[in-house]
Amino acid sequence: MKILVVDDSQLNLAIAKRYLEIIPDITQILLCNDPTKVRTILDENDIDILILDIIMPVISGLELLEQLRSEPEYDDMPIIMLTSLDDLESYKKCFELGAFDYINKPINVIELNARLKVAIESKNSSNNLKSLIEVTKKQNEELKEINAKLTEAKFSLVQSEKMAAIGQLAAGIAHEINNPMGFVKSNFDILHKYMNRLIEFLTFVHDKINDKEFADNTELCQCAALVGSKYLALKIDLILNELDGIFTDTSSGIDRVTDIVQSLRVFARSSKDDEKENNVLLDLIHQVTLITRNEVKYVAQVEIEVPDDIVLYCNRIQLGQVFVNIIINAAQAIRSQKRSDIGLIKIIARKEGQNIIIWFIDDGPGIPEENILKIFEPFFTTKEIGQGTGLGLSVSYDIIVNKHNGSFDVKSEPGKGATFIVTLPIVTTM
Ligand SMILES: Nc1ncnc2c1ncn2[C@@H]1O[C@H](COP(=O)(O)OP(=O)(O)O)[C@@H](O)[C@H]1O
Ligand SMILES: [Mg+2]
Repeated sequence: MKILVVDDSQLNLAIAKRYLEIIPDITQILLCNDPTKVRTILDENDIDILILDIIMPVISGLELLEQLRSEPEYDDMPIIMLTSLDDLESYKKCFELGAFDYINKPINVIELNARLKVAIESKNSSNNLKSLIEVTKKQNEELKEINAKLTEAKFSLVQSEKMAAIGQLAAGIAHEINNPMGFVKSNFDILHKYMNRLIEFLTFVHDKINDKEFADNTELCQCAALVGSKYLALKIDLILNELDGIFTDTSSGIDRVTDIVQSLRVFARSSKDDEKENNVLLDLIHQVTLITRNEVKYVAQVEIEVPDDIVLYCNRIQLGQVFVNIIINAAQAIRSQKRSDIGLIKIIARKEGQNIIIWFIDDGPGIPEENILKIFEPFFTTKEIGQGTGLGLSVSYDIIVNKHNGSFDVKSEPGKGATFIVTLPIVTTM
């Protein structure tokens, strides 16, 4: 520990030095008899404790003390005042100005030892505290950095969960679109063929009767018979019978594709990711079941009991994501049972008080009790690697609870299926 003693009397400095030399914790003693040089000495040496005479020429110990205490660098340095003053006022002033302690002159070795012991301990603990604060500050910085990285990672995970969900659905959606497109295309080919036959027939009729003057009835009858047998040969009656059906069929196929494309809009507006608006719940459910149809249709039947007058003030993309997650989870759970009968997923919604409650009930394997609290945790999955990210329900929880002020619960009786319950407050918008 480095100590600086300031006194205008060389004699006092010599005495202080002698006494201080025998204190083991003190490694270096600096002496100064000119109070105007104290600042420079302090600034140039890493002084731990300062002993300061009160009465000195040019600048007094009290003035120096006051100056030092006003600077953050020295505001906690132990400063011990050295005084022969028998004056209570000065002691009081010393402490008011932030002196750590005082030593009476002439210096008594026992008193000096005792006062310095306290000062050294205090300096040590303040040093410890400082380094602790430094460490804490550093850790705090590190934590902030980690937190920023985590936020970034969370964002990209949520994005990748979205992508996984979309990726999983993309194949199914392609299939759903392909089906109606398939029969639209084949109907189109048939129509083309029929059209050609109709053209052939019309051209034939045109050739036979255009600008013709029939000499007599017999000639007319012959012509009519030719047209008649052409009509039969080209199976025109069959074409006429089928046309209506083909058009109805094709039009329903086109409608189906249009519906699916409309439903894809649930996921298609990422630029308005946080915007909320009024959405008819039943429409949303229809769109979601259409998108998930291919994932679900071989394992479960979907029953919807949702009144058409329930309107949700929500972000359609986010809620769509939640509903898709729940439905796909239910379908995957039922599929995992490898059962022979077809499963059931029921979607029921009701207004209750100030809330809208939506139940997703499946008759799958249910969730074992030990997992029920874990399923909302990020990365919890019971599925094979590559099958599940374990993020679906945690992302859904965030959407329902944090982004829509709702609640998200699950009830399950293992062996009998699981019920996911989404409760959302009714929000009245102007
Ligand atoms: N309807 C359900 N029936 C049974 N278990 C379910 C159901 N829904 C979710 N789970 C369980 O919750 C876990 C977490 O689901 P989720 O967060 O969507 O992640 P992932 O589907 O990627 O595993 C699933 O792995 C599964 O064990
Ligand atoms: Mg999932």
